[in-house]
Amino acid sequence: MIFVLLLLFGVTSSWATDYELLLEDPDIFSPCTEGPPGSINIHQAVNLDDIVVDQEGDILHVSGNATVVWDVQPTDRITARLDFFHFNRGNWEPTVFSMATQNFCSIMYDKNQYWYKYWTRFITNRHEVEKKCFRGPDTLLAHEPFDLRLKFENFRGPLLRGRHKIVVLFNALDERNIPRPNPICLEIRGEPLKLH
Ligand SMILES: *[C@@H]1O[C@H](CO)[C@@H](O)[C@H](O)[C@H]1NC(C)=O
Repeated sequence: MIFVLLLLFGVTSSWATDYELLLEDPDIFSPCTEGPPGSINIHQAVNLDDIVVDQEGDILHVSGNATVVWDVQPTDRITARLDFFHFNRGNWEPTVFSMATQNFCSIMYDKNQYWYKYWTRFITNRHEVEKKCFRGPDTLLAHEPFDLRLKFENFRGPLLRGRHKIVVLFNALDERNIPRPNPICLEIRGEPLKLH
Protein backbone atom coordinates (compact mmCIF):
# COMPACT_ATOMS: atom_id res chain seq x y z
CA MET A 1 0.00 0.00 0.00
CA ILE A 2 2.78 2.38 0.92
CA PHE A 3 4.52 1.49 -2.29
CA VAL A 4 1.44 2.33 -4.32
CA LEU A 5 1.06 5.65 -2.57
CA LEU A 6 4.68 6.49 -3.19
CA LEU A 7 4.32 5.56 -6.79
CA LEU A 8 1.26 7.75 -7.12
CA PHE A 9 3.05 10.56 -5.40
CA GLY A 10 6.01 10.10 -7.69
CA VAL A 11 3.84 10.23 -10.76
CA THR A 12 1.94 13.23 -9.51
CA SER A 13 5.02 15.19 -8.67
CA SER A 14 6.53 14.47 -12.06
CA TRP A 15 3.48 16.22 -13.53
CA ALA A 16 4.13 19.28 -11.45
CA THR A 17 5.99 21.69 -13.64
CA ASP A 18 7.33 25.19 -13.19
CA TYR A 19 6.53 27.68 -15.88
CA GLU A 20 7.31 31.23 -16.61
CA LEU A 21 4.98 33.39 -18.66
CA LEU A 22 6.73 35.13 -21.56
CA LEU A 23 4.68 38.29 -21.90
CA GLU A 24 3.14 39.20 -25.21
CA ASP A 25 2.52 42.83 -24.24
CA PRO A 26 5.44 44.75 -22.70
CA ASP A 27 2.87 46.85 -20.82
CA ILE A 28 1.91 43.62 -19.00
CA PHE A 29 -1.82 44.41 -18.87
CA SER A 30 -4.04 44.43 -21.93
CA PRO A 31 -7.68 45.47 -22.05
CA CYS A 32 -10.03 42.49 -22.10
CA THR A 33 -11.04 41.32 -25.55
CA GLU A 34 -14.36 39.97 -24.26
CA GLY A 35 -14.87 41.90 -21.05
CA PRO A 36 -18.30 42.19 -19.45
CA PRO A 37 -20.47 45.11 -20.62
CA GLY A 38 -19.38 48.40 -19.08
CA SER A 39 -16.06 47.03 -17.91
CA ILE A 40 -13.12 49.38 -17.76
CA ASN A 41 -9.45 48.62 -18.20
CA ILE A 42 -6.70 48.95 -15.63
CA HIS A 43 -5.69 52.42 -16.84
CA GLN A 44 -9.23 53.70 -16.34
CA ALA A 45 -9.29 52.30 -12.80
CA VAL A 46 -5.78 52.95 -11.56
CA ASN A 47 -3.46 55.82 -12.36
CA LEU A 48 -0.22 54.06 -13.24
CA ASP A 49 1.54 57.15 -14.60
CA ASP A 50 4.14 57.10 -11.84
CA ILE A 51 4.81 53.38 -12.11
CA VAL A 52 8.03 52.54 -13.89
CA VAL A 53 8.55 49.04 -15.28
CA ASP A 54 12.00 48.09 -16.54
CA GLN A 55 12.34 44.74 -18.18
CA GLU A 56 15.64 42.95 -17.79
CA GLY A 57 15.51 39.53 -19.37
CA ASP A 58 12.70 37.67 -17.69
CA ILE A 59 12.52 40.00 -14.70
CA LEU A 60 10.35 43.08 -14.48
CA HIS A 61 11.65 45.75 -12.12
CA VAL A 62 8.63 47.67 -10.86
CA SER A 63 8.78 50.88 -8.87
CA GLY A 64 6.65 53.90 -8.08
CA ASN A 65 3.24 54.55 -6.64
CA ALA A 66 -0.19 54.09 -8.11
CA THR A 67 -3.50 55.77 -7.30
CA VAL A 68 -6.82 53.99 -7.52
CA VAL A 69 -9.39 56.16 -9.29
CA TRP A 70 -12.04 53.46 -9.61
CA ASP A 71 -15.37 55.13 -8.96
CA VAL A 72 -16.98 52.84 -6.38
CA GLN A 73 -18.13 53.37 -2.80
CA PRO A 74 -16.00 52.86 0.34
CA THR A 75 -18.57 50.37 1.69
CA ASP A 76 -18.66 48.20 -1.45
CA ARG A 77 -17.61 44.58 -1.34
CA ILE A 78 -14.99 43.75 -3.96
CA THR A 79 -15.02 40.36 -5.64
CA ALA A 80 -12.21 39.09 -7.82
CA ARG A 81 -11.85 36.22 -10.21
CA LEU A 82 -9.02 34.98 -12.32
CA ASP A 83 -9.43 32.62 -15.24
CA PHE A 84 -6.81 30.99 -17.40
CA PHE A 85 -7.49 30.58 -21.12
CA HIS A 86 -5.72 28.80 -23.94
CA PHE A 87 -5.73 30.05 -27.53
CA ASN A 88 -6.69 27.17 -29.75
CA ARG A 89 -7.65 27.26 -33.44
CA GLY A 90 -8.55 30.91 -33.39
CA ASN A 91 -10.50 30.90 -30.14
CA TRP A 92 -9.79 31.55 -26.50
CA GLU A 93 -10.87 28.41 -24.69
CA PRO A 94 -11.28 28.19 -20.92
CA THR A 95 -9.07 25.80 -18.97
CA VAL A 96 -9.79 24.20 -15.62
CA PHE A 97 -7.59 26.73 -13.83
CA SER A 98 -9.33 29.58 -12.08
CA MET A 99 -9.46 31.34 -8.74
CA ALA A 100 -12.19 33.46 -7.24
CA THR A 101 -12.83 35.34 -4.06
CA GLN A 102 -16.08 36.87 -2.86
CA ASN A 103 -14.22 39.34 -0.70
CA PHE A 104 -10.93 40.39 -2.20
CA CYS A 105 -10.25 42.98 0.49
CA SER A 106 -10.27 40.33 3.22
CA ILE A 107 -7.65 38.15 1.50
CA MET A 108 -5.51 40.85 -0.07
CA TYR A 109 -2.87 40.32 2.59
CA ASP A 110 -3.27 36.57 3.00
CA LYS A 111 0.24 35.16 2.68
CA ASN A 112 -0.97 32.07 0.83
CA GLN A 113 -2.48 34.00 -2.02
CA TYR A 114 -0.86 34.80 -5.35
CA TRP A 115 -1.98 38.41 -5.00
CA TYR A 116 0.19 38.67 -1.93
CA LYS A 117 3.14 36.82 -3.32
CA TYR A 118 3.33 38.82 -6.52
CA TRP A 119 2.12 42.20 -5.46
CA THR A 120 0.44 43.28 -2.22
CA ARG A 121 3.37 42.40 0.02
CA PHE A 122 5.28 45.26 -1.62
CA ILE A 123 2.67 47.84 -0.69
CA THR A 124 4.20 49.98 2.04
CA ASN A 125 1.13 51.92 3.22
CA ARG A 126 -0.50 48.68 4.24
CA HIS A 127 -2.67 50.14 7.01
CA GLU A 128 -4.36 52.57 4.70
CA VAL A 129 -4.74 50.02 1.92
CA GLU A 130 -6.09 47.39 4.30
CA LYS A 131 -8.86 49.81 5.22
CA LYS A 132 -9.63 51.30 1.83
CA CYS A 133 -8.59 48.33 -0.30
CA PHE A 134 -9.27 49.16 -3.93
CA ARG A 135 -12.03 51.56 -3.15
CA GLY A 136 -11.46 55.11 -4.08
CA PRO A 137 -11.51 57.85 -4.48
CA ASP A 138 -7.79 58.36 -4.70
CA THR A 139 -6.47 55.46 -2.67
CA LEU A 140 -2.69 55.59 -2.83
CA LEU A 141 -0.86 52.33 -3.40
CA ALA A 142 2.70 53.12 -2.32
CA HIS A 143 5.19 50.48 -3.34
CA GLU A 144 8.69 49.65 -2.48
CA PRO A 145 10.54 48.77 -5.69
CA PHE A 146 10.06 45.06 -6.45
CA ASP A 147 10.96 42.46 -9.03
CA LEU A 148 8.31 40.49 -10.78
CA ARG A 149 8.88 37.16 -12.45
CA LEU A 150 5.70 35.69 -13.76
CA LYS A 151 6.44 32.18 -12.57
CA PHE A 152 3.88 29.53 -11.75
CA GLU A 153 5.35 26.85 -9.59
CA ASN A 154 4.18 23.27 -9.22
CA PHE A 155 1.65 23.53 -11.95
CA ARG A 156 -0.11 20.18 -12.26
CA GLY A 157 -1.76 18.95 -15.39
CA PRO A 158 -0.98 18.49 -19.06
CA LEU A 159 1.92 20.35 -20.59
CA LEU A 160 1.06 23.94 -21.46
CA ARG A 161 1.92 25.05 -24.97
CA GLY A 162 1.15 28.09 -27.07
CA ARG A 163 -0.63 31.33 -26.29
CA HIS A 164 -2.42 31.65 -22.99
CA LYS A 165 -4.02 34.47 -21.09
CA ILE A 166 -5.00 35.25 -17.54
CA VAL A 167 -8.19 37.28 -17.29
CA VAL A 168 -8.74 39.14 -14.03
CA LEU A 169 -12.11 40.68 -13.18
CA PHE A 170 -12.88 42.89 -10.18
CA ASN A 171 -16.47 43.71 -9.33
CA ALA A 172 -17.74 46.12 -6.70
CA LEU A 173 -21.08 45.24 -5.09
CA ASP A 174 -23.25 47.64 -3.15
CA GLU A 175 -24.99 46.88 0.18
CA ARG A 176 -27.75 45.04 -1.65
CA ASN A 177 -25.15 42.97 -3.55
CA ILE A 178 -25.90 44.69 -6.81
CA PRO A 179 -22.77 44.98 -8.93
CA ARG A 180 -21.64 48.47 -9.90
CA PRO A 181 -21.76 49.09 -13.65
CA ASN A 182 -17.98 49.54 -13.99
CA PRO A 183 -16.11 46.32 -13.21
CA ILE A 184 -12.36 46.25 -13.90
CA CYS A 185 -11.22 43.70 -16.47
CA LEU A 186 -7.63 43.07 -17.47
CA GLU A 187 -5.71 40.42 -19.33
CA ILE A 188 -2.15 39.24 -19.13
CA ARG A 189 -1.25 37.40 -22.31
CA GLY A 190 1.78 35.30 -22.96
CA GLU A 191 3.31 31.96 -23.64
CA PRO A 192 4.20 29.64 -20.79
CA LEU A 193 7.81 28.51 -20.94
CA LYS A 194 8.61 25.27 -19.14
CA LEU A 195 11.45 25.85 -16.72
CA HIS A 196 12.63 22.30 -16.06
C1 LIG B 1 5.22 56.87 -2.74
O1 LIG B 1 4.42 57.29 -1.67
C2 LIG B 1 5.09 57.33 -0.44
C3 LIG B 1 4.07 57.63 0.63
O2 LIG B 1 3.34 58.80 0.36
C4 LIG B 1 6.19 58.40 -0.53
O3 LIG B 1 6.89 58.46 0.69
C5 LIG B 1 7.14 58.03 -1.66
O4 LIG B 1 8.10 59.04 -1.83
C6 LIG B 1 6.37 57.83 -2.96
N1 LIG B 1 7.28 57.30 -3.95
C7 LIG B 1 7.41 57.86 -5.16
C8 LIG B 1 8.40 57.21 -6.05
O5 LIG B 1 6.78 58.84 -5.51
